[in-house]
Amino acid sequence: MLKLLKWIDYLTHGREGVATSWPLPARIVVVCFLFSVGIGFISALVNLHFQEAGPGKVLPDGEDVVRAYHGEPGKTQLERLLSAPEALPFNGSGSMRAAFTEKKGGGLKSAMKAVAAERSMDLAIPAEAEHAKAEVLRRRDGERLALIAWIRSGAPESTFDEKGFELKGDLAKLPITKDYLVHGEGGTVKVHLQAIVTDRCCRCHAKGVGGSGAKYPLETYEDVKDYLIPDVNQGKSLDHLALTTHVHLLAFSVLYGLTGMLFALTAWPLWMRLLIAPAPILFAVLDISFWWLARLDEPYGPMFAKAIMVSGGLVGLSLGAQIVLGALGLFRLPGKIVIVLIMIVGAAIGLGIKVKVVDPYMAKQIAASKHLVD
Ligand code: HEC
Repeated sequence: MLKLLKWIDYLTHGREGVATSWPLPARIVVVCFLFSVGIGFISALVNLHFQEAGPGKVLPDGEDVVRAYHGEPGKTQLERLLSAPEALPFNGSGSMRAAFTEKKGGGLKSAMKAVAAERSMDLAIPAEAEHAKAEVLRRRDGERLALIAWIRSGAPESTFDEKGFELKGDLAKLPITKDYLVHGEGGTVKVHLQAIVTDRCCRCHAKGVGGSGAKYPLETYEDVKDYLIPDVNQGKSLDHLALTTHVHLLAFSVLYGLTGMLFALTAWPLWMRLLIAPAPILFAVLDISFWWLARLDEPYGPMFAKAIMVSGGLVGLSLGAQIVLGALGLFRLPGKIVIVLIMIVGAAIGLGIKVKVVDPYMAKQIAASKHLVD
């Protein structure tokens, strides 16, 4: 079999490792090209982190890709906006969770003062101020979870106003600002959800407040009801998919076509070039087809959405192999040593960035989501 393949290659081409005999400047250009593709790929991963990964996660996991590509059919838009990761865009297709946090919460100072008064803390002491802030955020998150519980219970109009929505079981233990609690008879804990929506949302979502949020008032139950219709399908919309598909496919074909072609011309054994050279293009096509298949109904849609992690990972692995092996495969031993040294320096810089920038950032993100009760 291998002999046959070699023979075919010999007949149709004849010479192994064409690129090894290219003039040095040409090979240097190729190495620069491969390395810049590598850096580009890493920044694509950073973008993926910001677009789709949940808080405290480096890259999206199964849950994140299913949410992004399959959507959450049956969930109402309101629940989705209240539960999706805060890092998503602050609009109707992303997340409104930031309205409960430091990012867009507002009124944090006065809420901290209230907590400080209640617990006789001194906000002038940084540690106590930090503590008061954490408590405010914990309570706000409790309010958010109470709203979600109400939505999941069918969002009945009768429990939205000051009569209160009863928090049962574990929900009764949610930390919630006292002002919103309505203590009913027999020790039941009820919460005034409309007041929460007014305080957390109507700063932007009320007629006449200005800003783009004012177009979507949330002042009454009737207003809120517009966002309580279960969605049939979300995930990526068809026009979004059509756009990203053609942009990605055209760009990737050129990019992976070039890296693959260069790899195919190196001096690595024929079987290796046969396997690795076309791999990124093939996996990228597979990956994009999974984007579309992820729209299918359960159980297939979520399965294809999760498969995106596999196909995406394979694109990354095979491209990485092309970059590393491709650069090495262009040179004889002395050149190979130089390439390895460059890669070691690159990896050291990457490690430095990880320790100095990425790790503290992730730790901060995890700390910020710690006060959340899930
Ligand atoms: C700091 C201002 C602000 C706060 C606070 C805020 N939002 Fe928003 N909201 C926006 C903006 C801006 C948009 C995007 C509007 C647009 O698409 O033009 C938006 C969009 C929405 C939409 C989608 C509207 C539509 O039909 O496209 C909903 C629903 C929503 N917000 C709910 C909420 C809820 C619930 C809260 C409270 C927990 C909240 N928002 C708090 C600013 C805010």
